[in-house]
Amino acid sequence: MAESAQRHETIILFGATGDLAQRMLLPSLYALHADELLAPDLRIIGTARTGLDDAGFRELARAALDEYVPAERKTGELLAGFLARLSYQPLDASTVEGFDRLAAKAGDISGGLAIVLSTAPSLFEPTIKGLESAGLAGANVRIGLEKPLGIDLGSAAKINDAVSAVFPEHRIFRIDHYLGKETVQNLMALRFGNMLFEPVWNSAHVDHVQITVSETVGLEGRADFYNGTGALRDMVQNHMLQLLALIAMEPPGAFDATAIRDEKVKVLRALRPLREGESVRGKYDNGASGGVAVAGYDTELGAESDTETFVALKAQIDNWRWQGVPFYLRTGKRMAERRSEIVVQFKSVPHNIFEGRHGRLQANTLIIRLQPQEYVRLLVMAKEPGLDRKKVVLREVPLDLSLSEAFHRSRRRIAYERLLLDLIEGDQTLFVRRDEVEAQWRWIDAIRAIWAEHGDAPKRYAAGSWGPVAGLALTERDGRSWHE
Ligand code: BG6
Repeated sequence: MAESAQRHETIILFGATGDLAQRMLLPSLYALHADELLAPDLRIIGTARTGLDDAGFRELARAALDEYVPAERKTGELLAGFLARLSYQPLDASTVEGFDRLAAKAGDISGGLAIVLSTAPSLFEPTIKGLESAGLAGANVRIGLEKPLGIDLGSAAKINDAVSAVFPEHRIFRIDHYLGKETVQNLMALRFGNMLFEPVWNSAHVDHVQITVSETVGLEGRADFYNGTGALRDMVQNHMLQLLALIAMEPPGAFDATAIRDEKVKVLRALRPLREGESVRGKYDNGASGGVAVAGYDTELGAESDTETFVALKAQIDNWRWQGVPFYLRTGKRMAERRSEIVVQFKSVPHNIFEGRHGRLQANTLIIRLQPQEYVRLLVMAKEPGLDRKKVVLREVPLDLSLSEAFHRSRRRIAYERLLLDLIEGDQTLFVRRDEVEAQWRWIDAIRAIWAEHGDAPKRYAAGSWGPVAGLALTERDGRSWHE
């Protein structure tokens, strides 16, 4: 489509004074500016309810860059150049009034307009209406939507309907910032850029897969959002299911938005609804994080809550490739370590030829560490040097690919740098399509229905641990262990 090749020269950020804008969006736009990846005349208009003028917004942005951009990336000149791109229009997005003023501020948008909604989802619908009424939704406007996209399938469908009444799918960019992470994109390079893995990437050779996204942080002052949302909807519905889809999908025919998203959605639709006993909810109690005593969730919140801060699941994909291969997922706040990791556990060799010499074998394991370290590690069996008189000693040794070392010259970028640039340039490959989001919600809603039906209260775990005992039992029961 000719239109998607066009670079967009105006950006409007909704929620421009919010936490995400300050921590991620403004620093990412600054980084693109510093690398001369933004057109010289590209303008960035911030909008939010807060009553600020242009100068006030530039001040806010400067403070955010002071805090979130490393000093060595900043010069006075670059900062001044970036801040000069910024302006601000206060707006109450819940009513259509005021959008005309925003349109007037934007002025000539014939060079194309990219809008990013980083607001409460309850504002999505009125914002879309406001944009349409003010002529800010035409053929050269793209819209980026930050999560959460609803709280269940019904609300997500309602948001999607409201957006698609005004914007066609090829101009809607649903953000899942995990897809902007370099290491997540590397999953595709690993799987489809090498001959080695694909032939064994199936139920004949893989025993099970584990996906862990553990965090050490707690509520981080986000109680308003987090409480009532919980780990399942905050992390599994989006980031973890996207990781699962990338790991499990069939090889796409090309690296493009349609081919990749077609394959991901097939996996998401093939997820078997969980049964009772295949999910565990947890909530952190008092404990320690990084050697410092920390309060439990309820204490931090100041109320007793039924929200889970940990979840572990045993997922299964009903297709030929993955029949009988469990995908164990777990994520939580205030856990022992910050770690995002995928572990592919292969099956044992069919016959151990070293048995007669008392040689013991372990099955191969592939560890893909996404953050904070970035590596791919294949655990393989090797013989320990020796004369082997009594027995052959075989040991598991790592075959290591450290991505941080191999690519130490390349700067690690914030996921949003990539995503915002893709939005400006109109490339949807790393954005989530409507059918994916809805398949994700369908599966998540069924889990919540089981929890509601069985009155599953979150089980307690000490802050700084690997989650409740029941989370461990989920794998142990199947004779498997979490990789720790
Ligand atoms: C967000 C969640 O989507 O992802 C947060 O709302 C979570 O609760 C964050 O902390 C984790 O992202 P990252 O990039 O730090 O792994």
